[in-house]
Amino acid sequence: MAMSREKRKLDHIRLALSSPPGGGSDFDDLQFVHRSLPETNLEDCCLNTQIGGLALSSPVFINAMTGGAAAAKEINQRLAEAARETGVALAVGSQRAALINPELVDTYRIVRKVNPHGIIIANLGAGASVDDAQRAIEMVEANLLQLHLNVPQELVMPEGDRHFKGMLAAIQAVVERVSTPVIVKEVGFGMCRETYTQLKGIGVSIVDVGGRGGTNFVTIENRRRGKGEYEYLTDWGQSTAVSLLEAKGLTGVDLISSGGIRHPLDMAKSLALGAKAVGVAGPILRILTQQGVQGVIEAIGSWHEQLRTIMTLVGTESVEGLTSVPLVVTGKTKQWCEARGIDIRGLAHGR
Ligand SMILES: Cc1cc2nc3c(=O)[nH]c(=O)nc-3n(C[C@H](O)[C@H](O)[C@H](O)COP(=O)(O)O)c2cc1C
Repeated sequence: MAMSREKRKLDHIRLALSSPPGGGSDFDDLQFVHRSLPETNLEDCCLNTQIGGLALSSPVFINAMTGGAAAAKEINQRLAEAARETGVALAVGSQRAALINPELVDTYRIVRKVNPHGIIIANLGAGASVDDAQRAIEMVEANLLQLHLNVPQELVMPEGDRHFKGMLAAIQAVVERVSTPVIVKEVGFGMCRETYTQLKGIGVSIVDVGGRGGTNFVTIENRRRGKGEYEYLTDWGQSTAVSLLEAKGLTGVDLISSGGIRHPLDMAKSLALGAKAVGVAGPILRILTQQGVQGVIEAIGSWHEQLRTIMTLVGTESVEGLTSVPLVVTGKTKQWCEARGIDIRGLAHGR
């Protein structure tokens, strides 16, 4: 069991790297309105934001990927170096492996060792007990805990879970009793208004929409199966843009955007749709593999500069201000919004 879990982690890394980068996150259906007189200065644009009352110097963060194997420890160490040098938050991959086998604790704890003062996010599946969740937090001295939802992945995975009753109650218990704020995140299948209502109803106040369009765990598990039986589920779920739009009007929940974020324009559109932070996983792993830690540091630095550029262009100097910038929704995403009764006319006027 332990070996197969370790092999699965390494398969995920290998298959994520060898799958084509996403492109179906629907951000191309969203367009900012160009303003010839923005009345902004680039040096006045500020990237400060906060999630769950925690101040972040940048909305960009490195989303959950790995741990639980020697190769994964090295990746975590290098991601933590990049996070430390750029001041971004970093989530570790699911810590289940280390809860089962304490010898693997170091493969996660390394991120705290490398980055003692940074924002670290712990990670477990959403069925976790309160006790396990608290142990995961303490393992990396986390500032936040992510609970991930990945039902399609489990179902396509031959050895995956088949029992999903009681998950909401399990999440509620963790949210009420652990020592940090909790983020409930999807892993790339997106969310909808109904899910937000369920989560808000049990007291969840931070949600990562984890939309479709980037790393695709149906594709990855299909390739692990070898037979590709579930290929028709490749497009399952809501894209990241649609998932953010589904949250329109939702109050009292800090939204995080992730899944198929390609560049700073996708980040800016996410923030305009109300996200307070933007997570990137697969693309950072790719940069790390091809260009090393320095490449990741340079990429994140450049994303920060480009985000400020876009803010200057659209006439706002704060992350919060982006939510008042007009954004026009077109194409299939517009059709989705019309069918679901989401007010895109207001968005086109910055409301
Ligand atoms: C190799 C790999 C491993 C991952 N493992 C986890 C995990 O253990 N827990 C989790 O919540 N998400 C995991 N994810 C999902 C990411 O956090 C993210 O939700 C997803 O990859 C979509 O973002 P992206 O398109 O930027 O990659 C993993 C992603 C990758 C690429």
